[in-house]
Amino acid sequence: MDSFELNKIAGIVLGTLLLTMGVGFFADIVFSRAPLAKPGYDLPAGEAAPAAGKGGPAPAAVPLGELLAKADPKKGEGGVKACAACHTFDKGGPNRVGPNLYGVVTRPVASVAGFGYSDALKGKGGAWSFEALDAFLTNPKAAVPNNKMAWAGEKDAAKRADIIVYLRSLAETPVALPK
Ligand code: HEC
Repeated sequence: MDSFELNKIAGIVLGTLLLTMGVGFFADIVFSRAPLAKPGYDLPAGEAAPAAGKGGPAPAAVPLGELLAKADPKKGEGGVKACAACHTFDKGGPNRVGPNLYGVVTRPVASVAGFGYSDALKGKGGAWSFEALDAFLTNPKAAVPNNKMAWAGEKDAAKRADIIVYLRSLAETPVALPK
């Protein structure tokens, strides 16, 4: 191959490169768009705002103390039928899939002897205050991530309050309701 041949090949390569760059340059001009006012993607109108996520406690419209004051333990006794598959409520009752719940209000979290709590619940700490129970029963998975209570939660704040005042009644001397 003589140097003339080489020059021809080099010329073809360079020419191709220039052509590619040139096409890119013109494509940029043809397809360029006005800069966005805000950085981000242009979404079709109406889809920009994601729908409000489900789960998580809804903003408390009525303070918990007020809900508990109005709540009915009799209705709560009906409400805990949903729990009875996994929990017993009588004093000294056995643990089932879940621990016995007699006296659970103000009881230290994860403290029933002989029940195999998850590490998640053991790590929660504190005691079952009215507020802690309310948050847990709203959405157990959100309140204590990775706990093993397979129950979706009660989203209705009034029904939850009924359940909580029923749980409160399961004690020799029920603790005072919060103000
Ligand atoms: C499908 C079974 C199941 C149902 C239904 C269920 N639970 Fe549980 N519950 C569990 C399990 C399992 C645990 C232990 C969770 C852990 O260790 O992570 C638990 C834990 C609890 C605790 C914490 C107890 C402690 O000693 O710290 C409370 C309070 C509780 N449940 C209340 C309720 C109430 C009230 C209902 C009904 C409204 C209910 N649960 C429905 C299985 C269930």
